[in-house]
Amino acid sequence: MTRTREHLRRVSTMTAAASLLVLGAAVAAVAGGASGRTADEKAAAGQAAKAQTATAKLESADDPKLSGSVTFTQLADGVRVVVNVAGVDKPGPHGIHLHENGKCEPDAAGKRYTSAGGHFNPGAAQHACRESTTHHAGDFGNIEIKPDGTGHLEVVTSLLSLGGPSSPVGKAVVLHAGTDDCTSQPAGNSGARLACGVVEGGGGH
Ligand code: CU
Ligand code: ZN
Repeated sequence: MTRTREHLRRVSTMTAAASLLVLGAAVAAVAGGASGRTADEKAAAGQAAKAQTATAKLESADDPKLSGSVTFTQLADGVRVVVNVAGVDKPGPHGIHLHENGKCEPDAAGKRYTSAGGHFNPGAAQHACRESTTHHAGDFGNIEIKPDGTGHLEVVTSLLSLGGPSSPVGKAVVLHAGTDDCTSQPAGNSGARLACGVVEGGGGH
């Protein structure tokens, strides 16, 4: 406290408004340090933060060597989506989306994963890619596959949240054989469904 008072004296030439801000911060810090409940609240917040991730593992009925992971992390005002894939035969851009049903049934060759349904679209938007102002919540655009068969994509979207009606949990991520043209309805003419993974909640679910 003594140091805080000295500090306040030192800043006494500052405007009254600024001094009040400093005093407010000091009071808040002391109150926080003295309260046991705040520690409990911190622990609860930690638990909540742990639950704020979800993951999907991509698998392909056509190509067993294909593997991939998708991680969803809750941010203050959106969700970060990180995709890593390997073992994809065709380099170049491949459409990747969150589809509305968390079902990755292999179905018949040539029309895999129809069980996953259409693009997740709680906002009733038109299909587009992530660069557009409006698009499906599930529109992640394309992931660029390198000549070695690997690809990495990071998307931050405000259209998803790990709680509530726009949660990706219980939906499915689909990697396509072709490129999302970002224009065609309802799915960007992205071609066959190459791989699929159901999104599951992490951290204590
Ligand atoms: Cu798709
Ligand atoms: Zn779409």
